[in-house]
Amino acid sequence: MSKPVIVSGVQPTGNLHIGNYLGAVKNWLELQNSGKYQLYIFIADLHSLTGKIPAEQLREQVKITAAELLAAGIDPDKTTFFVQSHVFEHTELAWIFNCVSPMGELDRMTQYKDKTAQQISATAGLFTYPILQAADILIYKGSLVPVGQDQVQHVELTRDIARWFNNKYGEFFPEAKHLLTKVPKVMSLLEPEKKMSKSLGAGHVIELREEPDEIIEKLKRAVTATIGGKKAPGVENLLGLLKEFGDEKTYKEFLLAEKDGTIRYGDLKATLSKTVSDYFTSFREKRANLLKNTKKLDDILANGAKKAQKVANTNMGTVRKLIGIR
Ligand code: ADP
Ligand code: TRP
Repeated sequence: MSKPVIVSGVQPTGNLHIGNYLGAVKNWLELQNSGKYQLYIFIADLHSLTGKIPAEQLREQVKITAAELLAAGIDPDKTTFFVQSHVFEHTELAWIFNCVSPMGELDRMTQYKDKTAQQISATAGLFTYPILQAADILIYKGSLVPVGQDQVQHVELTRDIARWFNNKYGEFFPEAKHLLTKVPKVMSLLEPEKKMSKSLGAGHVIELREEPDEIIEKLKRAVTATIGGKKAPGVENLLGLLKEFGDEKTYKEFLLAEKDGTIRYGDLKATLSKTVSDYFTSFREKRANLLKNTKKLDDILANGAKKAQKVANTNMGTVRKLIGIR
């Protein structure tokens, strides 16, 4: 029996941060290394065109994101790893999905609503963003999609799109389901009521590439204040990070100290700084090496695209026949 197909992607809009790592990448690594699945992981460069990234920066950031994912542990021998725009079938299928998806359903997407609330004018690309995402998943007949909480709605829409297509043209696409990690949401260091996101700015996130002294500085400024007498969201966030990156004993000590009110936030921050920077020591070395040898990086991505394209092309062949353009 063939292994279940897993598909996921990340936009090359900035360096990976610990929210991306715990919410997405770590889960990909576990799935990859379990040997139970067929994985397609890609860099969603076309999706990032819905933002404001300049061309030169996009070119650069695709390379950095690729190096970072490989340094984190994506293994191109186990996972089909590539750049979305290198496999043209994604956009071809997206157009076909455009033609089975009711506007009203896209209008409900919270990511679209949030982003349009911040932007003066929204493009059609921002509106149809989840359609391209559905095509990314279904072009490989993906059935499992490991993402963070904020992407669940898009995976649900992917399921609807598969259904709309199948109802109109005959059963072809599977029902995709999201896979959440244990820590679905890492919060911002400076505004712990918001999710940690590159778009909030440098002080809000810890990037995986950051050197120990940078991490110390960032965590020193992390907000630990309580709001309205409730448990401080910032402290809860830092404890959650210690739980993920550190050993259980240290985590439990701090948790206990927090419960009985003896916790010292300075100690928590110092311990967490060291824990996080130690965790990513080998990541930093591998990342630097890959970025020095971009020929190797390009070869890995070209190989990945070739493997992905083979499957995408076969599935697109069937779709073209089903819809009557062949
Ligand atoms: P960002 O918000 O920093 O731009 P992306 O939207 O590119 O991050 O997200 C890439 C992946 O990382 C997605 O699967 C998303 O769900 C996950 N992710 C992003 N931020 C977080 C977070 N703070 N906590 C958990 N997962 C996250
Ligand atoms: N929209 C996702 C994000 O912002 C990235 C993405 C694009 C994706 N295509 C995908 C994730 C397909 C999972 C599957 O994080």
